[in-house]
Amino acid sequence: MIPNQWYVLMESKQVKSRPVGVTRMGEKLVFWRDETGRVVCLRDRCPHRGVALSKGKILDGHLQCPFHGFEFNSSGKAVYVPANGRKGPVPKALQADIYPTHEAHGFIWVWWGNEPPAELVPPRFFDDIDDSFTHKTVHDPWRAHYARVIENQLDVVHVPFVHYNTIGRGGRTIVDGPAMEWVSEDQFNIYTYNRLDDGTPPRKAQDLAIPNPSGFKLEFIFPNLWENHIGTDVRLVGVFVPVDNEHTLLYLRFYQRFLKLPLLRDLVAWAAMPFNLIVAHQDRVIVQTHQPQRPGLQIGEKPIPGDRPIVEYRRRREALIEAARRTEAS
Ligand code: FES
Ligand SMILES: [Fe+2]
Repeated sequence: MIPNQWYVLMESKQVKSRPVGVTRMGEKLVFWRDETGRVVCLRDRCPHRGVALSKGKILDGHLQCPFHGFEFNSSGKAVYVPANGRKGPVPKALQADIYPTHEAHGFIWVWWGNEPPAELVPPRFFDDIDDSFTHKTVHDPWRAHYARVIENQLDVVHVPFVHYNTIGRGGRTIVDGPAMEWVSEDQFNIYTYNRLDDGTPPRKAQDLAIPNPSGFKLEFIFPNLWENHIGTDVRLVGVFVPVDNEHTLLYLRFYQRFLKLPLLRDLVAWAAMPFNLIVAHQDRVIVQTHQPQRPGLQIGEKPIPGDRPIVEYRRRREALIEAARRTEAS
């Protein structure tokens, strides 16, 4: 994982009136809402005697540990130790590990890193997605490192093979470019120009139009957000939620705005999802076989020009990891 980043780790609707215990980033975490509805994320371990706080309950906006009833506020601090009495002392050391959260667009981000900076800049999302879209999401488990799952969604070379009978039908095996543009240090677009092999060599990235006149593009925001601009009114967003180093949850969200009627739009979202999952599972069965499981720049792979988005993703990812290491050391 890249430290010091905002990761989407949950969907808003997963956290309701009870504490929810999940594994994310290789850690056991508990998500819950305080009396104002704000999402709190704590390490799922009571600082008193180490049991899972997620087995407890919410009482007046506090999280009550199931073991000895200690209550924690939305800062993760114990505010009541029943054994010491209502007016009794609450030791300062009774502080659960807390992670900053941010909630927007129906997602919950968690700041993953060391000391968060005093002025934490909120995470970014895709500018083109606003309230005119409605959405439906599925959660799909992969037995793979999350960066491998991301790389698969940046891979424009695999499409006519892995998806030969779905989105890659037609045998467009020549990969012109692809063209890539960095929008900021942590965000880039990919424009694909795959075509039939007519005997001409692939065109170089610098000879291709940016943006692609078809309007199609893939967008990526570090560390774990991807968007496929399928059409003016349809988008597919992928969130690569790291469970641990070997497991990822792919949150696939289908957005549309061509239908407004509630029943119809639900119907179209649910009709689209099985196809999206079929395509994702064509990828999954291959991606789960990667060796080594964790990607990097120096793992003995032999990229070709069409793999450029993957190589650039890896470079930036390693630079961010290195930057976090330097910050830690200084
Ligand atoms: S272990 Fe949580 S209150 Fe004792
Ligand atoms: Fe794919």
